Amino acid sequence: MAAEQNADSLDSAFYQTAATFFPAQAGVALTYDDLTLSTLYSEILPRNASLDTELAGGLRLHLPVISADMDTVTESRMAIGMALNGGLGLIHYNMQEKQQLKEVSRVKNHVHGLIQEPITVPPDKTVGDVIELIETKRYSFSTFPVVGDDRKLVGLLSGNVLKPRYAAKPVTGALVPRDQVQTLRESQLSDDPITVADQFFTDHPGINKLLVVNDNDELRGLFTLSDIERITSERQAQFRPARDGQFRLLCGAAVSTPRDGDGELDGERIETHVAALIERGVDVVAISTAHGHSKGVGDAVALIRAAYPELPIIAGNITTAAGVDYLADCGANIIKIGQGPGSICTTRLVAGVGIPQMTALYVASQAAKAKGVSLLADGGITKSGDIVKALTLADGVICGGLLAGCPETPGQVMEISGKLYKQYRGMGSLAAMKSGSAARYGHTPKDTNRKVAAEGIEALKEVSEDLDQLLSQLIGGIQAGMGYLGAATLPDLQAKARYTRISPAGQKEAAPHDVVEMKASS
Ligand code: XMP
Repeated sequence: MAAEQNADSLDSAFYQTAATFFPAQAGVALTYDDLTLSTLYSEILPRNASLDTELAGGLRLHLPVISADMDTVTESRMAIGMALNGGLGLIHYNMQEKQQLKEVSRVKNHVHGLIQEPITVPPDKTVGDVIELIETKRYSFSTFPVVGDDRKLVGLLSGNVLKPRYAAKPVTGALVPRDQVQTLRESQLSDDPITVADQFFTDHPGINKLLVVNDNDELRGLFTLSDIERITSERQAQFRPARDGQFRLLCGAAVSTPRDGDGELDGERIETHVAALIERGVDVVAISTAHGHSKGVGDAVALIRAAYPELPIIAGNITTAAGVDYLADCGANIIKIGQGPGSICTTRLVAGVGIPQMTALYVASQAAKAKGVSLLADGGITKSGDIVKALTLADGVICGGLLAGCPETPGQVMEISGKLYKQYRGMGSLAAMKSGSAARYGHTPKDTNRKVAAEGIEALKEVSEDLDQLLSQLIGGIQAGMGYLGAATLPDLQAKARYTRISPAGQKEAAPHDVVEMKASS
């Protein structure tokens, strides 16, 4: 027992809790590579560690990773990929508002069980017309509900009859007639349409399409067996997609803080923008600026909060406890920490401000606990170990550069000297500010024609593996870190973390050294 106590006190003298470690370092700001975590007795197998995180009431992720609201990182394709892996994408706003709404709709309508506007064919076509339609539109499916001008269901045209030998036949001569088509009434779907559809398919072997009609027998939607099977298996999987109460993928969107001609915040424009996003089903809005502890950002958050008491709001960026207090008091539930750590950021060089991430996160986390808000560590993450360290103080991380080489990001692939690259640019770069993000850095779009100091650069990232593969590597790394600390959940990780600083020689020791590397680890 005495020996055990001795070991414990020896460990805690060298490997300290956040409450001991960070105040002892006051006066020097630390980031991920300045410190390391010590291991603890563990009964946790990495693969059993849960990465669930609740960022706000009703906003629960299964992977605490969010793709940045940057115009070279997150549009619908990236947001769909992130949510399918349990995380979240924030659609950027450097595009027409109409286009941003479309991007949100694409995410929200991505395979959510009921296909609400299935492709139909009219009864007056021939089988040959339908075969041609499939070829020209490159449809990957071949069964079509047949619907008259009055939207009423006439029958179901099955893929089995879509053969050249029947090309001349009218659709009405080849379809399964209405009275033989199995359908459900919309009113039978209840609160849990997936379970109802799942039971239907179990009760009707051989049927793999289920049509839904209203009381007038007008077509209202279509379930496919494969979608239902995918969704029900996701319910059991550990890294299941991040979905809302209606089984739609979660999606976030960035909102700008524009000013009118007199330099006043354009509240009306912000309100109509947020209202339109909510109508499309957005789950969270993000107000991302370089200086979140400022009147304009606070006013914008307060305005949205007053109009939508339940909507999760992400706001930032800040690096102080007073900044957390301010944004929380204005109504933000999730606060972004990070000023100048990003791989394309030059804020610290240009403006001489900004705090390395681990110190900023510790300071902010003390205020966040008192206010009951969540924190996101935003920027500067280059490897899964950084995420583990960030999650000892934050509830999630935002990544830009780490994801920017994935095929799922917007933008073209370019080849330079035999290597493939994608563009990655700071939202504070001159080019991005000209495309719409000037307000994020306290400028108006007109300012960008005059001389303004850019706070970001335009860069290239080498094309990486696809998002699923990249995230599976990150998930493996985060779970490994949790296993080393004996943490079954993210709150456990926060409670158990013990830190120590590392010397430059210790940093060198941490990476592969004194070998000739044959294959780089991803
Ligand atoms: P990483 O390191 O993941 O950082 O590439 C992404 C985060 O960087 C922030 N960001 C900027 N910061 N100037 C800045 O000072 C910029 O031009 C800029 N663009 C993005 C942002 O918080 C993002 O999530």
